[in-house]
Amino acid sequence: MKFFLDTAHLDHIREAVRWGIVDGATTNPTLVSKTGREPRDLYAEICGIVPGPVSLECLATEADAIVAEAKQLATIADNVVVKVPLIREGLIAVKQLAALGIKTNVTAVCSPLQALLAAKCGATYVSPFVGRWDWMGQVGMDMVRQIKTIYNNYGFSTEIIVASVRLPLHVLESALAGADIATIPMDVMEQLYNHPMTDVILTQFNNDWAKVPGK
Ligand code: G3P
Repeated sequence: MKFFLDTAHLDHIREAVRWGIVDGATTNPTLVSKTGREPRDLYAEICGIVPGPVSLECLATEADAIVAEAKQLATIADNVVVKVPLIREGLIAVKQLAALGIKTNVTAVCSPLQALLAAKCGATYVSPFVGRWDWMGQVGMDMVRQIKTIYNNYGFSTEIIVASVRLPLHVLESALAGADIATIPMDVMEQLYNHPMTDVILTQFNNDWAKVPGK
């Protein structure tokens, strides 16, 4: 399973790339707003650091305008993927962008049927927002499992990015469900390394090693 980093924070991106586990990145308007940076320069820097696809979000809401905005974003770097909202106009644009060879990540997906529509229109990636489903009292990962079944049933090549990840359990369940990718916030990425028993084991080994003579 590929790991994308869900952030626009340059220091976090540099650090997680150094760890060797980052396959791509995703941004959104909220994440960009937290940086206080002008988007185009920021996007170019992110694309230069990340060794894989970087999703940059379109804000237009009408198909022709989305296509125009997507074309502009795609000029920033070769690894740009254009994030397009799951609205009817967005999917019209996705179909046109697929014909132009511009990769898309259909975002704000909140149902398996929306994911089916996105795949039919040629989306490169689809992003079901699992954490937000959980907030609504539904099991977000059920949506991922259903999308996986639908895509397998019909041989769609659209890749599933588990998005709106809130905790390590979402990453575990993504891997068990066979999701292609999880896009993970920095705090959750850090938590993946941690287990208190690992700390106990290493403390014991270090304490015992201290007693070994002539080392
Ligand atoms: O890629 C999805 C992510 O950017 C948005 O998720 O729920 O954390 O805003 P959320």
